Amino acid sequence: MTADRELRVSKISSGTVIDHITSGQALNVLAILGIDGTDGEVVSIGMNVPSDRLGTKDIVKVEGRELSQSELDVLSLIAPVATINIIRDYDVVEKHRVDRPTEVTGVLQCPNHNCITTEDEPVDSHFEVLDDGVRCVYCDTIIREDLAAHILV
Ligand code: CTP
Ligand code: ZN
Repeated sequence: MTADRELRVSKISSGTVIDHITSGQALNVLAILGIDGTDGEVVSIGMNVPSDRLGTKDIVKVEGRELSQSELDVLSLIAPVATINIIRDYDVVEKHRVDRPTEVTGVLQCPNHNCITTEDEPVDSHFEVLDDGVRCVYCDTIIREDLAAHILV
């Protein structure tokens, strides 16, 4: 990134920078992380920021926060090429790409009201991850759009 673009969202001293988020998904990323600002977290958001690699991207910087594996799994579904940067003392001390899992359990709600996972039975939702969506392994319902609206966590 060029220096003038860097200025758009300032550097943080410690925390997590979620970079290369698919444009338009930043607020969904915050929803996945359960961040709505009411707990006083310091959060910076860039939306539709120019990116050499992606054309445009979103970016989310959360100070003093690391992410769990299940948060990363769900994140990868809406932002498959996101980069997770752990920042300490202003330095990037860890950088990893999110991994697109082959399946996700217990993180998405099946939209089929007759699905065994949406009834009273204690059955966790279980989706197979496809190239263009996810498929419920119990009832074969496919979710292709707006995955974030189906997130349970
Ligand atoms: N960053 C930050 N605060 C810091 C250090 C880095 O907010 N103290 C941000 C940068 O603005 C950038 C991301 O963390 O968006 C990754 O930083 P860095 O690895 O230095 O940038 P790039 O080399 O551009 O990353 P990549 O190769 O992943 O595109
Ligand atoms: Zn189902």
